[in-house]
Amino acid sequence: SRPLIIAVDGPAAAGKGTLARRLAAHLGLPYLDTGLLYRATGRRVLDAGGDPANPADATAAAEALHPADLQRDDLRGPPADAAASQVAAIPGVRSALLDFQRRFGQAHGAVLDGRDIGTVVFPEAPVKLFVTASPEERARRRHAELAARGAAPSLAEVAAEMAARDARDSARDVAPLRPAADAVTLDTSALDAEAAFAAALRIVESLR
Ligand code: C5P
Repeated sequence: SRPLIIAVDGPAAAGKGTLARRLAAHLGLPYLDTGLLYRATGRRVLDAGGDPANPADATAAAEALHPADLQRDDLRGPPADAAASQVAAIPGVRSALLDFQRRFGQAHGAVLDGRDIGTVVFPEAPVKLFVTASPEERARRRHAELAARGAAPSLAEVAAEMAARDARDSARDVAPLRPAADAVTLDTSALDAEAAFAAALRIVESLR
């Protein structure tokens, strides 16, 4: 049988990373956080003094991306969030990162989380989850995450930045954030990590 691919897409701070990581551990599959590819690309552009919205700068950075870039410890937080969603709107960046994602899943299967896994990267994946939560709940979670790391933007600032990033991710021409036609939507607004995992596992078992 073909290696199992599980696509986990959705907006920021909906709980998809935690969920995807737990599914992968439970099922014994490799896990890839594809947001890291866009974050690391954005970081490379910023380091080189370039503009993350400039197609030539961003595409060159994506083409030069090295696996070690994904281990950097400055890939989280507002500057990396914004740079990632800017480079992610550029077609040259997306095509430069596509092969890496496909190869990652091909040999042994994988759980991948992102924005376009079920629509573009693995449109044939047998299991597609679209993980969402209300904007208020997502802003609250991201705010708590940042506070735990010692960063202190206000809840209103976090909500505004998240809304801007959601708008950019949903409105772009290439691979916009949207559920695949055959994705199952899981709203985690009222679920803790344990309940979300249990719900996701039931969906996976029913589809695989
Ligand atoms: O998931 P995460 O918040 O780390 O993603 C950071 C940014 O990378 C997103 O806002 C989005 O613009 C971009 N992204 C994407 N496609 C993916 C994963 C992330 O466009 N598959």
